[in-house]
Amino acid sequence: MNDHSEQGILNQSMEKAKYYPYTGGVVLGIETSCDETGIALYHGQRGLLAHTVYSQTELHSRYGGVVPELASRDHVRKTLPLIHALLDEAGLPASAIGGVAYTVGPGLVGALLVGAAVGRSLAWAWQVPAIGVHHMEGHLLAPMLEDNPPRLPFVALLVSGGHTLLVQVAEIGHYRILGESVDDAVGEAFDKAAKLLGLGYPGGPALARLAEQGDPQRFHFPRPMTDRPGLDFSFSGLKTHTLNTRQAIGASPQNDADIARAFEEAVVDTLLIKCRRALRHTGYRGLIISGGVGANRRLRARLSAMGAAEAIDVYYPRPVWCTDNGAMIAYAGYRRLLAGQQDEPIIQARPRWSLEELPAI
Ligand code: KG4
Ligand code: ZN
Repeated sequence: MNDHSEQGILNQSMEKAKYYPYTGGVVLGIETSCDETGIALYHGQRGLLAHTVYSQTELHSRYGGVVPELASRDHVRKTLPLIHALLDEAGLPASAIGGVAYTVGPGLVGALLVGAAVGRSLAWAWQVPAIGVHHMEGHLLAPMLEDNPPRLPFVALLVSGGHTLLVQVAEIGHYRILGESVDDAVGEAFDKAAKLLGLGYPGGPALARLAEQGDPQRFHFPRPMTDRPGLDFSFSGLKTHTLNTRQAIGASPQNDADIARAFEEAVVDTLLIKCRRALRHTGYRGLIISGGVGANRRLRARLSAMGAAEAIDVYYPRPVWCTDNGAMIAYAGYRRLLAGQQDEPIIQARPRWSLEELPAI
């Protein structure tokens, strides 16, 4: 019931002023959950207008991994200038922005807060709605940016530095986690194995490059948790296996390449076995792969071959949209803004947040 007292009317109008409807227009996407500052401009009819990613790799490489405080500070330095530069590049005035989307979680809390503070404040100043996006929903929707978007329903294999998830996607916004890693995420396992082989940070792409020179027949690493039913993963044992093998045979360029190849084969095979299981379990005939490790060439080739042999439609975004980027956040935000969703005008981060908690679209 409406309160017609002076205070009541004031409260109601303040409440209303907190929210602005999404009336179309370009969505600005901001990704700052880890060590990449990703910015993008997405329009419902015209698609992706512009995007840019600034990687902090160089900043963290001398420490062998991401230093959270340095990551936050660099996002503070980069986010606003990158937004200005991207608007200039696209030839758009700020008034073209109809909504702002930023990654609100999961991720590093300080890094997330930078994107949330910048995104929320710009939306407030521009009087447009803002929405906090789930980073893994961004990865999950990234294949939708491609010309041949996946058809629903599908199984999603999301493989990043922080997560390994098999998700049943009946519709956008409605996610059921079928399996996840009980220890290291697959990207983390790549990074740690790479470190053991003396490769720099980030290790995943470096290990994959080294594996190209390796002999696939020389070592056979275990395929963890494939000998029992279920869709969960465990990758920390492969790291130990990497270390033990290297200690046993000694380091040399060829030994290291052979170990890298055995590691990569084991990871790819394990992911493939579990994807196949998830497809059988759901009866779905579509599979999408996304997240940083989704850029791995051997994984893409093996899953595509499985799809061709078993009449499964396999989709993955181009490599730059597998790794962290602003485009996927702009797109996920656009879908939710279009559905009438938006966030309160408060600046918050959700460093731990399950995909299953998301509201339907
Ligand atoms: O999705 P992402 O960019 O960031 C997170 O959300 O974590 O994923 C980064 C992870 C890192 O662990 C990186 O080593 C791994 O993805 N990665 C790869 C490849 N490219 C990136 N792993 C294996 N092969 C690659 N080509
Ligand atoms: Zn990611």
